[in-house]
Amino acid sequence: MIYAKITGWGKCIPPASITNDEISSVVDTNDEWISTRTGIRSRHVSHVSTAELATVASKHALACAGLEGKDIDLVLLATCTPSTMVANTASLVQKNIGAVGAAACDTNAACSGFLYALQNATAQIQAGMIKKAVVVAAERMTWYVNWTKRDSAVLFGDGAGAVVLEASDTPCGLLATKTGCDSEDRSILHIANYGTDMDRIAGNGPSDLSFEGREIFKRAVKGMSEACDDVLNQAQLSLCDIDVLVPHQANLRIIQAIQNRLEIEDDKVMVNIDKYGNTSAATVAIAICEAVEKGLIKPHSNIMSAAFGAGLTWAASYIKWGDRVTPLTHSDAKLPPCNQTGLELIAPAVKACQQA
Ligand code: ACO
Repeated sequence: MIYAKITGWGKCIPPASITNDEISSVVDTNDEWISTRTGIRSRHVSHVSTAELATVASKHALACAGLEGKDIDLVLLATCTPSTMVANTASLVQKNIGAVGAAACDTNAACSGFLYALQNATAQIQAGMIKKAVVVAAERMTWYVNWTKRDSAVLFGDGAGAVVLEASDTPCGLLATKTGCDSEDRSILHIANYGTDMDRIAGNGPSDLSFEGREIFKRAVKGMSEACDDVLNQAQLSLCDIDVLVPHQANLRIIQAIQNRLEIEDDKVMVNIDKYGNTSAATVAIAICEAVEKGLIKPHSNIMSAAFGAGLTWAASYIKWGDRVTPLTHSDAKLPPCNQTGLELIAPAVKACQQA
């Protein structure tokens, strides 16, 4: 049996951020509402493209694995905020990391995208089609934000996380997974004015994220919990076997509800929504990196991850960590300097939304 071991991990967080107090100068909100309803205290705003965020995260993951781009057979980019649609954004990441000739493909399953892509790359390694892959999730969710809508404007942020997978005969990596999509209700979470449904002659004004927050909240808790149960059954594990829960970071209260349903203790749950908000597909990838950095993921940890997003897609995954939690080498890859604050970066979009 061939397994797909995670041998490298890396992230890229753009430097500019916007605190809850700062965002309160843009929309009618306040720190107390945002932090108690969502757990978010700050979010980062990118001054560079999705491809650049993905490139830096991937270079860190490659160095961590002690590999170079030329060793890689497949680059899968999970994103719903691609820099370009044609050519796909993964092809630019492939070029930037020097993965010459590797297959390169974007995957869009919104917030579930990283776990979908991890499943896809793992299956290709297990089938013997490829030996090494970079799975990267990168998002510029702030690009979509309508800065006149307080319900959604406060929720999202930008960032990227990546892992390297390598064929191995040791049972580790993604060992059980369940993905699905509840398409009957795809309309309760969607972005209008983006894609070929747009009237490209007349234009449609700013893109607009529409969602029924309470309904999504309930479905996210139910969908992720049930998917976790399914994966535990597949893997023939019980909850006490799980060392770390790495959930999608959409709302702290959603995380806590899943944690309560699964009866997992606080110190086993990875939470970083306070710093980054919802970075869609990137939340799980960034959270895995930070769980390793803070020692929550240890050698041979049993990790449960779950995500839920537009579609309505959902996913849960049981990942067995390998024997290494320290990088083999380090990359000096970094983003170009940013000389603007978060509020300065979004100012043109705020003005355009207000005038639309
Ligand atoms: N600041 C202040 N007040 C606000 C804000 C804000 N930013 N946003 C909404 N309100 C007000 C509303 O207008 C409403 O006021 P009213 O009672 O006078 O009408 C009140 O707060 C309550 O609004 P609700 O929408 O009922 O608030 P709720 O407690 O459900 O929290 C939230 C909203 C945070 C969006 C929550 O429903 C949620 O997290 N939902 C799921 C996550 C989600 O939808 N994420 C989108 C991406 S999808 C994903 O990642 C899974």
